[in-house]
Amino acid sequence: MEPKLVTEIIHSPTDRDLRRAAALLCAGGLVAFPTETVYGLGASALDEAAAAKIYKAKGRPSDNPLILHLANPSQASLYAEVSLCFEKLASLFMPGPLTVILPKKPLIPDTVTGGLQTVAIRVPVHPMAHQLLTYVAGPVAAPSANRSGRPSCTNVSHVIEDMNGRIDMILDGGDCDFGLESTILLPVDDHTVKLLRPGAITVEMLEQNGFSVVLDKAVTQKLGENEQPLAPGMKYRHYAPKAEVILLDGPRERVVAYMEQQADADTALLLTDEMKSEVSGCKPDVTVLSLGKEEDRLMQAHRLFTLLRTLDEHPEIRRVYAALPATDNIGLALYNRLVKASGYTVLRL
Ligand code: TXA
Ligand code: MG
Repeated sequence: MEPKLVTEIIHSPTDRDLRRAAALLCAGGLVAFPTETVYGLGASALDEAAAAKIYKAKGRPSDNPLILHLANPSQASLYAEVSLCFEKLASLFMPGPLTVILPKKPLIPDTVTGGLQTVAIRVPVHPMAHQLLTYVAGPVAAPSANRSGRPSCTNVSHVIEDMNGRIDMILDGGDCDFGLESTILLPVDDHTVKLLRPGAITVEMLEQNGFSVVLDKAVTQKLGENEQPLAPGMKYRHYAPKAEVILLDGPRERVVAYMEQQADADTALLLTDEMKSEVSGCKPDVTVLSLGKEEDRLMQAHRLFTLLRTLDEHPEIRRVYAALPATDNIGLALYNRLVKASGYTVLRL
């Protein structure tokens, strides 16, 4: 699809602007809006033609379903079969960076769910998203606002880069808090959930609240040719910069030594601040990008997609090395996005 629409970009939207954005959504338009995770590209979820436009604007495969965004978890029962497990998750973590998969009710069009009989429900906590959804007073289907195959958008300039000329309106809400997409859970029984995509609601947080968590294989491993992930989107090589990403797994000294020896002018290193000071023996023309302090893994998660986008602005960079992160707490989300960006290329040292 060639960009041809005039996209209205609204910096610091007023209440009136949000009402206008809501009216646009209700009339079948496409509006990009900020959430606490990443920017979303919204359309009315009850309007099949509007939802279809999302796939076109993103260049997204039509079997990859969209998430239903609601102003309040109590609305979920209008569109999905809610369960005790959902009620418990909602009371603990909604509004917030969590998506729950439930059996869908018939009024949700197949276009939204990619033909599945389930629907993904999310209630964002971002005030602008919440206000917009309140004004729409119905479900808004919204995938991440990036073009398919690009890293998710964590600030408005990414959205403009990917969507200007393809959608009706972009609401600027500044930087997203988390910078990684929501945790996706599939309830198995009253207190067991399957983790389909890790995010800021971590396995540890769920376990502390009495849930048993089963990891879907697609979170950490490459699936075989004939295997289907439970979240269809997990099969696509998202988050991928044009350069080849290679993850290094091993004792820190070996990772540092490998980077020092192998990195050249065509190489970028994606490092924590601490590791940055350790790779002092690198050639001078190596690009070094900082994810932030080692202990501040929320910040690392926050910076990851922005750095992956930055890499695409430097065609001279052909290779990227990063250390494989630990998988506890928010580390699992970072690990998942990095292994996907690398196409599961992990070098054991
Ligand atoms: O944080 C987020 O979740 C952001 C913001 C905008 O809310 N949205 C987002 O949407 O990341 P998207 O479309 O980029 O990712 C949605 C993921 C995909 O992997 C999709 O396959 C999965 O959710 N999904 C959606 N509906 C599903 C369903 N019924 N069953 C299983 N997976 C589903
Ligand atoms: Mg996405």
